[in-house]
Amino acid sequence: MSYNNSARWCKALLACAMLLSTYAGAAEKLARVTILATGGTIAGSGATSTTTVGYTAATVGVERLIAAVPELAKVADVKGEQVFQIASENMSNDHWLKLAKRVNTLLAQQDVDGIVITHGTDTLEETAYFLDLTVKSKKPVVLVGAMRPGTALSADGPINLYNAVLLAASQEAVGKGVLVAMNDQIHAARDVTKTNTSTPDSFKTPELGMLGYIQGNKPYFYHLPARKNTVDTEFDISKLEALPQVDIVYGYANVNPVALNALVGAGAKGIIHAGVGDGSLASSVKTGLVAARKQGVLIVRSSRVGQGIVARNGEANDDELDFVASDTLNPQKARILLMLALTKTSDTKQIQRMFYTY
Ligand code: DGL
Repeated sequence: MSYNNSARWCKALLACAMLLSTYAGAAEKLARVTILATGGTIAGSGATSTTTVGYTAATVGVERLIAAVPELAKVADVKGEQVFQIASENMSNDHWLKLAKRVNTLLAQQDVDGIVITHGTDTLEETAYFLDLTVKSKKPVVLVGAMRPGTALSADGPINLYNAVLLAASQEAVGKGVLVAMNDQIHAARDVTKTNTSTPDSFKTPELGMLGYIQGNKPYFYHLPARKNTVDTEFDISKLEALPQVDIVYGYANVNPVALNALVGAGAKGIIHAGVGDGSLASSVKTGLVAARKQGVLIVRSSRVGQGIVARNGEANDDELDFVASDTLNPQKARILLMLALTKTSDTKQIQRMFYTY
């Protein structure tokens, strides 16, 4: 072989070696994402391909969820863990403590870059907010569900899972707090809520706005969470074995105070009042709340309305009654913050500060 030929061969071999090392490097550089499966419709199955309601949630295991979306391997180095297999209406404080501890353990590991949690949509927003207040890492944590079971025509689970893993593997999601990825959209845990019982566009952040989109294999952020979250919160659940009992009472015309009195009698440490309007208190319920406060029960005025600020000293004299106003947190999220607040203090001024901080 002439000198020129051997030189050309060497150049070709060198180019191939560089190409291979680039691909190998790229493959090595895929973010390592752990999928924690908890159940829900995303793991559900129905009798026929047109069964979009009346199916069974929490029937499919995490390995099958991953196998159903081979494209995941292009965006992340994925591992699966089945932490629960439940319909999310059965999610409990104990489940939350176990999940938050597992998330924190995994995120402390060098070989985990992000976490996706597959979850039923009924309480997905609550689990997301609990984790937003208790995860101690800036690494991405993304919750995802589905409004249709995997057996249904145009099931949304596979694309939602793909988008969630892609988001959790992204640099863009680092330091953004706990996120919810549904229907090609990115939402902040604090403000997202389920707005429809069954349609794929159910998850919205009305008025305050979602954070961005996932489109063409890329996340796009247009807003940032405004409130403290994850590493910036004062809550530490690492040594907690239980959370204080906090319950919600619903306001309506001609309201019956029996439910409130029964919950206080059963030992509630806090009550969230989902009031009409701007957190208004019917006289019958106000009497019960004042009595409960006198027994040391923490009272938070929230609203059933869903949007807007519950103003302190607006529909009730919170200063005089020693109540807390929920700001914009809906009742189910106000309950989560009050539970965690009560692990730190029973001082209403401190708790009101927390409602204006998180
Ligand atoms: N049972 C409901 C749940 O697990 C099904 C709804 C869903 O996951 O979309 O939250």
